Amino acid sequence: MENLEKIFEETYNTKPTLKYISPARINLIGEHIDYNGGMVLPAAISRYITALVSKRDDDLLCFKSTAFEKVEKRHLSDLKFNPKYDWANYGFGIFYMLIKEGYRIEKGLNILITSNIPLGSGLSSSASFLNLIGFIANDVYEFGFDMKTIASRSVEVENKYCGLKCGIMDEAAIALGEKDKCLLLNCDNFTYKLVNLNLGKYKFVVLQTNKPRKLTESKYNERVDECQKSLKLLKEVYKDIHNLCDLRSDKLDEIKEILNDDILFKRVRHCITENERVYAFKDALEKGNITKIATLLDLSHKSLKEDYEVTGLHLDTIVEAAKASKAIASRMTGAGFGGCAIALVDEDKFDKFKEKTAKLYFEKTNIIPDIYMVDIVSGPKKIEE
Ligand code: GLA
Repeated sequence: MENLEKIFEETYNTKPTLKYISPARINLIGEHIDYNGGMVLPAAISRYITALVSKRDDDLLCFKSTAFEKVEKRHLSDLKFNPKYDWANYGFGIFYMLIKEGYRIEKGLNILITSNIPLGSGLSSSASFLNLIGFIANDVYEFGFDMKTIASRSVEVENKYCGLKCGIMDEAAIALGEKDKCLLLNCDNFTYKLVNLNLGKYKFVVLQTNKPRKLTESKYNERVDECQKSLKLLKEVYKDIHNLCDLRSDKLDEIKEILNDDILFKRVRHCITENERVYAFKDALEKGNITKIATLLDLSHKSLKEDYEVTGLHLDTIVEAAKASKAIASRMTGAGFGGCAIALVDEDKFDKFKEKTAKLYFEKTNIIPDIYMVDIVSGPKKIEE
């Protein structure tokens, strides 16, 4: 922290006066169905972006990250998207949207961030950053937003300002997260319920493949488009559906005929069965049925691999390695195409698990993974010192 304060002073020539944190998230189950009106079950985890902040007397908004050299500065009156601002666009985007909505912000901020959430790895560093900036703006300018409003604005910035057609899961999971609970989120109407994470001696472990993800955005948007195309075809027959997740698996034979396209059918089958797995998972959690929980996690990965086709060599290899190293279950989490998987592991056996999984993964990919246990934590916070 002292070091961070020093960087702040060197960057901005003044002391920080405020400090905030925002966590990462994992998704336990319900993958790639938030943008299909499905149910998802994510949780905020103990990896954080930390921000030091001071208020400015002029209209400049300044971002600096310890991961990058440059300070990104812009006037509050000139915040249109510009790719040259790269990562800082998420921060500028929040202010752009607030001003567009009519909120008066006359004086800017100095912001320095540091993060132990790996970038672009499926733990939602971008959603965490967006929520963090929304949270900071709300606190500094005293707008009085609730966390749901902050999350919704973050999604809007990601969709409309940054151009990723993502759903609401990540922003909601981070904004509304609570310690030792997961969020049962209905992505059709943005209602939610917190569910106790009752896992006994088992802990969630993050398996970071460390495979750089390049195609994520285009591939992600391609899946969204395939789902939209399928929905259009299905709506011609099922007049009262709004989303793919309004359908149930007893209709799959019929759906296959209507779509008459193998790829589209596989995408839809994933969405429908994954949505049903979320309900089953919630029941199993409430009953403390670990065996059932494990089976559902494994089935989710299989469906993402075979039907939705978003896993790839690195995620499949690390999931297999985890299973061979005595994880009771493992699956990819987030968008896929590289990034991270999660595993459920007996806490006492973690060290052995880590060593064996890393070894098996390295043998096949030549990449050293990062493997760590995580706690389930609450959302963005102001740190009073
Ligand atoms: C990314 C998106 C989310 C969600 C997941 C897949 O994390 O940001 O909205 O679609 O992928 O479940």
